[in-house]
Amino acid sequence: MQFFSVYDLLLNKVRENNRTPDDMYTFFRARKIKKSQIIELQQTAFIPAEENFRKALCDFLNMTELEIELSMGRIPASYRDSYFQNIKEIARLLSKAEDNTTSHFLPYYENELGCLYNGDCIKIMHSLPDACVDLVFADPPFNLGKVYDPGIDDSLTVSKYINWTYEWLDECVRILKPGGRIFIYNLPKWCVYIASHLGESLTFWAWIAIDMKFSLPIQSRLYPAHYGLVAFVKGTKATTFNNQRIPLQVCRHCGGELKDYGGYKNKMNPLGVNVSDVWTDIYPVRHKSDKNRKYNELSVKLLNRIISMATNEGDIVFDPFGGSGTTYAVAQLLNRKWMGCELGDCGIIKHRLINSRRDKEQLERIQEESGCLFTPSIMELRRKNGFWICEDFKGKDDTESMDGQLALDFSQE
Ligand SMILES: C[S@@+](CC[C@H](N)C(=O)[O-])C[C@H]1O[C@@H](n2cnc3c(N)ncnc32)[C@H](O)[C@@H]1O
Repeated sequence: MQFFSVYDLLLNKVRENNRTPDDMYTFFRARKIKKSQIIELQQTAFIPAEENFRKALCDFLNMTELEIELSMGRIPASYRDSYFQNIKEIARLLSKAEDNTTSHFLPYYENELGCLYNGDCIKIMHSLPDACVDLVFADPPFNLGKVYDPGIDDSLTVSKYINWTYEWLDECVRILKPGGRIFIYNLPKWCVYIASHLGESLTFWAWIAIDMKFSLPIQSRLYPAHYGLVAFVKGTKATTFNNQRIPLQVCRHCGGELKDYGGYKNKMNPLGVNVSDVWTDIYPVRHKSDKNRKYNELSVKLLNRIISMATNEGDIVFDPFGGSGTTYAVAQLLNRKWMGCELGDCGIIKHRLINSRRDKEQLERIQEESGCLFTPSIMELRRKNGFWICEDFKGKDDTESMDGQLALDFSQE
């Protein structure tokens, strides 16, 4: 279903009648509706509540409220019964010949594990067969007005951004294999639409909050502190789930744990704690020496976690928005096959994939630092400051913790 705001309908009407937006504002001003109230409609997906505003909208658009709702892609609750009673007739009215034409694209770069296309991800996905990838990861532009390569507009109207998002999501869903998973990284404000749309054809798997470092407060709003990573599975059950263990969260100054694990310390798995749906250990790529390009590069650690958790060696990972190529670089280091597209400059990605030493070293460091409850440096810090470490419990009665309380088994999956 497409997303339309009332504002889109108004603009369409203005265009249809060869008028200007100023003519529209004059029309509404005569009905005591300010220009600012019209502009605000760009940000919302509903018809305003004020009676005179609704009436003026109907007059301007020459539509009933029901027609406005239907034009915005919604069936009002009070009409659902008649909608379902008339499904056959509606389907007949909607039916149109299916367009089966697909174009063929030549890869920009290929190696033994993967294939990169330079072009628009929607067009490229159109050329791919159904059910051909095991994992989709996507980190699209967030519509924040950032400057990307020519041909990429990051300042779309709300409805244009959402409709474009739905279009590439639908293709991602089509090319995903049954049991495969799709992970989309975005701001919570867009994740809401993404999750709702994916929920129409896939099964919810997780909504992960990724701690946003170094964010700035926004006036009259809650301080933004997380990115969303929404994950859905095709069918009802994911084919692969490799549990990921990470070190216990501790204070980097004293080494003390940030959460109180009470009397259960001796039952904690020395290989680390199971990863939850709040990820606080992912840092942005900020350092010049780590960056492959100036902006918008995700960390190797994030992609390592997603790809390791959701796929096995030999599986195919797809990312429609290549950027600097983090997904492909990590996928191939983990022995996964990969496929992807980038509308802008692909040279950076190719260079990164050919010169993979830095990513390899980073990945090795990340792998060394996971799979344990404390890293060697944190263990040393804890020893120095008198905090417990796993070795303290070796040989003790395993139903008792240090302070004698009955313990839960945190090591269970
Ligand atoms: C947020 S960045 C992705 C960054 C990437 N995850 C990384 O770690 O480097 C989004 C990328 O999508 C690309 N892009 C935007 N629209 C596109 C489209 N229609 N098809 C393919 N790529 C597109 C942009 O050029 C940009 O490089």
